[in-house]
Amino acid sequence: MTTPIAHFNGQLLPLDKIHISPLDRGFIFGDGVYEVIPVYGGTMLRGREHFERLQRSMDEIRLDNPHTVDEWMGLVEKLLEHHPGNQSVYIQVTRGVPPKRDHVLPKGLAPTVFMMCYPLASPSREQVENGVACITARDFRWEKCNIKSTSLLGNVLARQLSADVGATETVLIRDGFLTEASASNVFVVKDGVALAPPRDHLILLGITYDLLVKLAADGAVRLEVRPIPEVELRSADEVWLTSSTKEVLAVTKLDGQPVGDGRPGPVFRRMHALFQEHKARLAARGKVPA
Ligand SMILES: Cc1ncc(COP(=O)(O)O)c(C=O)c1O
Repeated sequence: MTTPIAHFNGQLLPLDKIHISPLDRGFIFGDGVYEVIPVYGGTMLRGREHFERLQRSMDEIRLDNPHTVDEWMGLVEKLLEHHPGNQSVYIQVTRGVPPKRDHVLPKGLAPTVFMMCYPLASPSREQVENGVACITARDFRWEKCNIKSTSLLGNVLARQLSADVGATETVLIRDGFLTEASASNVFVVKDGVALAPPRDHLILLGITYDLLVKLAADGAVRLEVRPIPEVELRSADEVWLTSSTKEVLAVTKLDGQPVGDGRPGPVFRRMHALFQEHKARLAARGKVPA
């Protein structure tokens, strides 16, 4: 098997030829930020929005961005020449390699830039038609969840709780309110109205979340953004997960109990159809970003 081509500090190289210093702040402190962009038939879905969020993450951690959005888009296009079809592009920027380990932010370092691609694993037909099982847990992560940080230990440990019982995601509750899941945003539906948690520091504001809010508005689906108490999550007619790889997926079992009637609901089916239409329009338009 040939080694996939990846991007490292401005160069395209086989993945196994890329070596990173043990002093890299990303390795030592998890001091970096990242993005994952879905690509359908060679076209990024909301590429610009992903790089705008990368900029917000970098601003939050006081890291200078080595590239403009246009430059980033160009670098991904070059990488995609080696990876046809549907892909996930993973982009990571760390604070670089200082001469010694010290918590204090070093000055004048060149950041480390790494990008790789792997085939996009969209939800299976079975998952879309039947929904997935999730569990809940207390949200024990930090209070800067709006930063798409590579320090993911909290999310990793949260995700493992559901993996341990064969469930798809861990839905998180902080101080009696729904936040998000370990690697996805969460929406609920009550009496035909979709609800999404506020865009604050307690969730990562998903690019898919924002796209769904827009598609709901365009498609006349009622949607409110407001705090969602745990009791509303547990009595919801529908619960969905959203992310760049999960798209929009119905949760039909939560902590072993059926959600609503235990089948993906009508509002989910409408949003899923709107999402698929959006993807199809994107593919038809070719390289023009959505
Ligand atoms: C914690 C968390 N929340 C939400 C999301 C969804 O974000 P997006 O729709 O941009 O993929 C992710 C995606 O990885 C995530 O890790």
